[in-house]
Amino acid sequence: MAIPGPGYSITMRVAAPPSASAAGDLTSAVGRAGGVITAFDVVESTAALMVVDLSANALSADHAGEITAAVDALPGVAVRKVSDRTFLVHLGGKIEVTSKVPLRNRDDLSRAYTPGVARVCQAIAENPEDARRLTIKRNTVAVVTDGTAVLGLGNIGPAAALPVMEGKAALFKKFAGVDAWPVCLDTTDTEEIIRTVELIAPVYGGINLEDIAAPRCFEIEKRLRERLDIPVFHDDQHGTAIVVVGALRNALRVVDKRIEDCRIVVSGVGAAGNAIIRLLLLQHPADIVAVDIDGIVHTGRPGMDPNLAAVAAATNRRGLTGTLAQAVAGADVFIGVSAPNILSGADVATMADRAVVFALANPDPEIDPLEAQQHAAVVATGRSDFPNQINNVLAFPGVFRGLLDAQARNITDDMLVAAAHAIADVVQPDQLNASFIVPSVFDDKVATAVARAVVGASRHAAGGADHSTRSVTTDDGGEATGSAGSADRADRADRADRADGRGSAIGAPTDHAPELADVTHD
Ligand SMILES: NC(=O)c1ccc[n+]([C@@H]2O[C@H](COP(=O)([O-])OP(=O)(O)OC[C@H]3O[C@@H](n4cnc5c(N)ncnc54)[C@H](O)[C@@H]3O)[C@@H](O)[C@H]2O)c1
Repeated sequence: MAIPGPGYSITMRVAAPPSASAAGDLTSAVGRAGGVITAFDVVESTAALMVVDLSANALSADHAGEITAAVDALPGVAVRKVSDRTFLVHLGGKIEVTSKVPLRNRDDLSRAYTPGVARVCQAIAENPEDARRLTIKRNTVAVVTDGTAVLGLGNIGPAAALPVMEGKAALFKKFAGVDAWPVCLDTTDTEEIIRTVELIAPVYGGINLEDIAAPRCFEIEKRLRERLDIPVFHDDQHGTAIVVVGALRNALRVVDKRIEDCRIVVSGVGAAGNAIIRLLLLQHPADIVAVDIDGIVHTGRPGMDPNLAAVAAATNRRGLTGTLAQAVAGADVFIGVSAPNILSGADVATMADRAVVFALANPDPEIDPLEAQQHAAVVATGRSDFPNQINNVLAFPGVFRGLLDAQARNITDDMLVAAAHAIADVVQPDQLNASFIVPSVFDDKVATAVARAVVGASRHAAGGADHSTRSVTTDDGGEATGSAGSADRADRADRADRADGRGSAIGAPTDHAPELADVTHD
């Protein structure tokens, strides 16, 4: 079912005879080899020759080679050079630092740097909270990884993880105006990671943990949350859980079922599965049955680690044992964050009427979505070439926009639930259908709605008082808080702070105790 896409796109520089049929011959050769032409640019033309940049999407690196060979085999045609357009995008990295202040003359230098900056340093030394007003801390997040669970690639190390972290930083900026910076650590030692993040924390308003393998990710997040006075969020866990819970809210609207009546099977109890189960429990489903590589998770199962034991204790009310196939029989919802091709169409056929199937293993889902559609009413995957893509980009930019705007010190379950509902509710009732349960990642209402929801939950946690959050009236009369606008808004809020001399009154929001409070604890 795969189709050629921009992830494998090449540009071939081709020399060809200047015949009337040359363009048709070239594009036909690409088409016969299964490629999809995306651009045809003549870069040189003489009476004897034409040179063309021919761009095409392929299925894989090998397929790109086959397309190139097919073009090169045409009579009189020579492929001079092939550029991989994905690699071209990465030349020199994807993000940069730019100055927000003018540095044109001695006056500018004296204010932005010495001697003027010394007074700002002194102000922060006297009142460390001023770092949130007077430095990048206000709008900056560290994207921290040890490179041990990168995409589907596994433990590829910190340098190889950098392109993913750069991409994440670019998405933070694009979708929520958050300045994020990759911090790829050359250690997999839990204590070293915790200590290192603690040491760099003064610069940041939040920590986004990324692609750190389970179960170490649970310990690292828990301990950092205890030690730091800024929010710590593991996107592979909570970003996924937020989007899944939001998507499920809409899927159940489509099939007209209440979550309280639903039996849910979650396949995979790693980073994503753990967090999904934790957040789902707050929605009070009829039951959740967790399944991992060793089968159904139940309290009698030997050899479970503390995470799994906590999941077993909080799920599986009927004490089921056995296989995934046995777990899904009669279930209303299947959520897979496990492994490819482990669920069959026949298994889905045994589910309850109007079943919902989220097959999220990447790049190949637990079941071919076309097969799942034969028996389920709503199907979602993690893939961009299929409707209902469960994509963390729907959550993390808005979540951090909200956390930074609220100057939150921690993350509560209420914030995660509020973010999930906000994503779901961006889809209007007249837009909702089985193929549209989540909004587009390019819908700019999403990050704004999620940020507002997180700020609202933060305020609620602080009892409605202006302790953990602060609504900043900007100099254009607007409100910076809860908006997912550009970093300019944070800048305007900075200027408004200076104008009205407001400080940072920050209290600690109380944590809402979840039903599975200790699922990530020992
Ligand atoms: N937005 C998304 O679409 C999204 C988000 C997060 C994770 N994922 C995907 O979910 C999968 C899991 O991610 P993770 O970070 O939680 O990984 P992880 O390694 O932390 O956990 C994997 C879990 O799957 C279980 N598992 C492995 N093989 C299984 C099998 N044959 N049957 C049942 N369970 C099996 C393991 O026991 C483990 O509990 C990956 O494919 C990942 O790409 C998708």
